[in-house]
Amino acid sequence: MPPSEATGLRTGARHRLAQFYRPTDLVVLGLGVTIGAGIFSIAGVQAATSAGPGVLLSFMIAGIAALLAALCYAELSSTMPTSGSAYTFVYVIFGEVWAWIIGWAVILEMQLATAVVARAWAIYAVQTLTDFGIRLPYLEDFFALGIVLLLTFIVSLGARIGMRALYVMVGAKLLAIAAVVIVGAMHIDVANFGDFFVQAQPSPKPPDTVLEVVLGTSQSFGWFGVFSAASAIAFAYIGFDVVATAAEETVNAPRAMPKGMIRSLVIATVIYLGVAVVMIGMVPYTKMAADAPLASAFRVAGVDWMVHVIDIGAVLGLTTVIVVLIVGLTRILFSMARDGLLPHGLATISRRFHTPSKVTWVIGVIAMLLIQFVPVLTLQELVVIGALFAYLFVAAGVIVMRRRMPHLERGFRVPLSPYLPALSLVAILWLMVNLQILTWIWFALWMAFGLLVYLLYGRRHSLLATTTAHQAAKGRHRR
Ligand code: ALA
Repeated sequence: MPPSEATGLRTGARHRLAQFYRPTDLVVLGLGVTIGAGIFSIAGVQAATSAGPGVLLSFMIAGIAALLAALCYAELSSTMPTSGSAYTFVYVIFGEVWAWIIGWAVILEMQLATAVVARAWAIYAVQTLTDFGIRLPYLEDFFALGIVLLLTFIVSLGARIGMRALYVMVGAKLLAIAAVVIVGAMHIDVANFGDFFVQAQPSPKPPDTVLEVVLGTSQSFGWFGVFSAASAIAFAYIGFDVVATAAEETVNAPRAMPKGMIRSLVIATVIYLGVAVVMIGMVPYTKMAADAPLASAFRVAGVDWMVHVIDIGAVLGLTTVIVVLIVGLTRILFSMARDGLLPHGLATISRRFHTPSKVTWVIGVIAMLLIQFVPVLTLQELVVIGALFAYLFVAAGVIVMRRRMPHLERGFRVPLSPYLPALSLVAILWLMVNLQILTWIWFALWMAFGLLVYLLYGRRHSLLATTTAHQAAKGRHRR
C-alpha cells in the first residue's frame, strides 16, 4: 500500500473522522494520557523495592528510550497521518501480517492499560475518601467499574465534550504536580541522596527477568535493579504513541503531530525528573510506602495537607489517562476494521454523535471484564511489552522507509538517521530484556492467539486482499 493511501480516505466519506485537533490540543492530549499511574504509583514502588534513589537513573534511561521512539513516531506520522498509528505505518512498510501483529500488540497495550489505570484510579478514589475520614474500602471494585462505565459513556457521546473537560482536568493535574515539586523541594533532606546508588544485594527469589535468566543471577538494587525499574517505569512514558492515533483528526497533521507528541513527552519527562528528585529527597527509600509512595513521603515529612492535593490530583490525572486511552484504542480498532482485519461494523461512525461509538462500548465492556476477573495490577509489564514491541517496529520502519522512499515529503525527520533510529532499537531491546520472563510468556501466548485470529478471520476479510483478488479476477475476465 503506498503511503498516500494510508490515511484511509480511500474507503470513502462515511469513515472520515472530522479534523479538529490543534497543536495545543495535542499537547494537552499528550499530558492527559502520559502523566498517570506511572508517576503516581509505579515510581515509588520501584524506588522502594528495586532501585532505591537510583530510580532517578531509571527515569532517565526510560525517558531517553521514549524520546528516541517518539522521534521515530513523529517522522512516520508526519508522512502518514492516520488514526492507525503504528499499525498503519507497519502496514505500509512491512505488509499486512506484520501490521496485524503490531495492531494486536497495541490492542493489548491500550486495552490492558485502561484496566490497570482504572484500578489505580479506584485505589486513589478510596484513599481520597479515607483521607477525608470516609472509610469505604469495599467500594474499590465498584469504583473501578464505575469510572470505566462513566468514561466510556462520555467518550461515546463525542470527543469534543471530552476535550473541554480534558483541559480542566489536565490543568488540575499539573497544578497538583507543581505543588508536589515546590512544597516537596522545601522538605528535601540532602542526606537522603547520600546513599544514591544502593549496592546490589543477592535476591532471595530466583532470576526472573530475561537478562537475569541469561546471566544466571538474581539481584535487587544495584544496576540490575536500576534497569529493571527502568523497564517498569517505561509505563510512565507511554502516551506519545496514543497521541499519534489522533493524526487523522488533526489540522495540518504533518507539522502539528510531531510537535504535539514531542512537546508533551519532553514536558512529562521534566515533570517526572522533578517529582522523582523530590520523592527520593524527602524520605529514605527504606521508609517509602509501596502502596501510596508520594503521599507517604509528605506524611513522613509532616505536610499532611499535601496528601489531599496528591489524592485529588491523582484522581483527576488518572481520569484523563483512561479517557485518552479509550479514545486512542477506538482509533486503532477503527483503522483495523476499516482495512477489513476486524469486523467492519467496528469502523462505523455514529450518525448521531459523529464518533465510533460502537467500538467505544466494545472497549469499555472488555475493560470492565478485565477489571472484574483479572488481577490487572500485576500485569503492568504486559502493557509495557506491548508498547515496546510496537516502538521497535516503528524505529525499524523509519530506517526502511528512508531507504525505500528517500524523497517522500516528510513534515519531520529524525535527526542523524539511521543512527538515532538504530539507537532507539537498541534502547527498546534493552528495556525488553529487563522485563520478566513471565511477561514474555504471556505476551507470546497473546501474540500466538492473535496470529490464529488473523489466519481464521483477518486474512480472508482483508480489504486489500479482497480488492487484489477482485482486480485479478477482472483482469482475467478482460483477457
Ligand atoms: N503513562 C500512563 C500512566 O502512567 C499510561 O498512567
